[in-house]
Amino acid sequence: MLVFASSDKGGTGRSVTSCNIAFHLAQRDDVAYLDFDFGSPTAGAIFDIPRAERGIERDGLHTYFTDGITDPRHLDVWHATDRADLRGANVRAGRLSFYPGEMGGAEFAISDTATTRCAELLTRLDQEYSVCVVDLSAGRSTALEMVLAATAQPMMRAITTRWLVFHRWTRQHIVAAHGLVYGERGIVEIGASAGHDPEALRDAIRFVRIAVPNLKEHNPGQTAAQATWLFTYDEELRKLAVDKRLGKSRVLGMTPVEPVLQYREQLISDSDVSTKIANHATVEAFRELAARLSDDAVWEGM
Ligand SMILES: Nc1ncnc2c1ncn2[C@@H]1O[C@H](COP(=O)(O)OP(=O)(O)O)[C@@H](O)[C@H]1O
Ligand SMILES: [Mg+2]
Repeated sequence: MLVFASSDKGGTGRSVTSCNIAFHLAQRDDVAYLDFDFGSPTAGAIFDIPRAERGIERDGLHTYFTDGITDPRHLDVWHATDRADLRGANVRAGRLSFYPGEMGGAEFAISDTATTRCAELLTRLDQEYSVCVVDLSAGRSTALEMVLAATAQPMMRAITTRWLVFHRWTRQHIVAAHGLVYGERGIVEIGASAGHDPEALRDAIRFVRIAVPNLKEHNPGQTAAQATWLFTYDEELRKLAVDKRLGKSRVLGMTPVEPVLQYREQLISDSDVSTKIANHATVEAFRELAARLSDDAVWEGM
């Protein structure tokens, strides 16, 4: 299965959330994580891999697409991570392979050659891994256009493909996520012009709400007027989301505001929770997203 992680805005939590989803999926299955954020390939920092925190020096995904090497380099997260509590986790887990971009790499022009190479790589990795998570550059990027063109090619039609669109729980992010999916030159429109059936493509897209505040929690620093305003505005956002076709039936899940992630982009492990540094609810949210993502019944029944 291929999972495309997209968002209209940068800084939505797309990479941190998809790395954590990949981490949970890899407890059971072989998972590949591909950093297709070509302009800013920093997912290595989230996996805590020092030598790849801004991408690797050479032979990564950029060179694969632009210079024609046959096999982009990948790193085994369980061995390469600096996190002592995660290192060696492969004894009990599936593989978690990270395909980084490159330090000096930048967005490149889309071409038929790059699209074909993309189709070849994704088809091959789909056979090798149970799930491939592809972290796409924000907005209407080369990466987005390239994977839409690649997945429309006959060689890829039979592969199960799911799309996640990440957004924060704010007015601007809801409007932006709507535009990325349904708007002019959005995923559905670009996909249709690349040869996808627009309805099938729309059905393969779910939204993920990131860092949603928990209004039920007592917040001693809050005035009564603030609490009332937040409740009222939260309701407004819900209506806006329904209006913009991002309502409940199209939402895969959400994540709560996590203090650790406000300071540091990382995998949240069980040991972060048992030491009471991270919230249990955050790990549960990632675990549930991973479970729902790979559950066909959930996916089709939505
Ligand atoms: N649930 C959350 N609570 C608080 N902060 C979060 C949460 N999820 C992500 N973040 C933070 O938001 C910022 C942007 O996330 P990132 O994954 O880098 O976004 P993107 O890949 O969409 O640009 C990061 O500092 C990240 O740690
Ligand atoms: Mg990112």
